[in-house]
Amino acid sequence: MEELKNECLDCRRCELWKTRRNVVFGKGDPHADIMFIGEGPGEQEDLQGLPFVGRAGQLLDKMLDAAGIPLDSVYIANTVKCRPPHNRDPLPEEKDACRGWLKRQIELINPKVIIALGRISAADYVKEDIRIMKEHGQWIERDGRMCMAMLHPAALLRNPNLKPEAFADILKVRDYIDESK
Ligand code: URA
Repeated sequence: MEELKNECLDCRRCELWKTRRNVVFGKGDPHADIMFIGEGPGEQEDLQGLPFVGRAGQLLDKMLDAAGIPLDSVYIANTVKCRPPHNRDPLPEEKDACRGWLKRQIELINPKVIIALGRISAADYVKEDIRIMKEHGQWIERDGRMCMAMLHPAALLRNPNLKPEAFADILKVRDYIDESK
């Protein structure tokens, strides 16, 4: 994983290298059972070179903690490794250019479950035409692995009424992992 990371830090496969301050490769246990895939780095992530360290990340940390899932037992990465300017959605060509990095990360980690945070990554890693408000929390098997879309923590910050639904999904993930042991 370290080798892959070092290669990725020099990536110029799309134009986002021109505006990034840091490549945000990923963080966590390289042998994790649970892998979260977010959308793309925001400002704090770009500054620190780590995924989910801003407000949305802090909320995710809190939810994992409340569910009894140790933070250092999961792996977290994004569909694109460099911040899209002004936090716009990543472009299809940016996601395509970046896909190889995430694919290698998934292969190396070989997690039991993949949890896509938000519609953008859920469309790529759970179901192309997903309706996230309706279909979050549902297990879907893809490539022999259980995958689930969850509401993005940034959406929970905008609409805190959705937090219980999202927390229920985290508990499902915890229970699945516990039962698989
Ligand atoms: N939102 C994301 O999707 N990813 C991050 O790393 C931070 C915020």
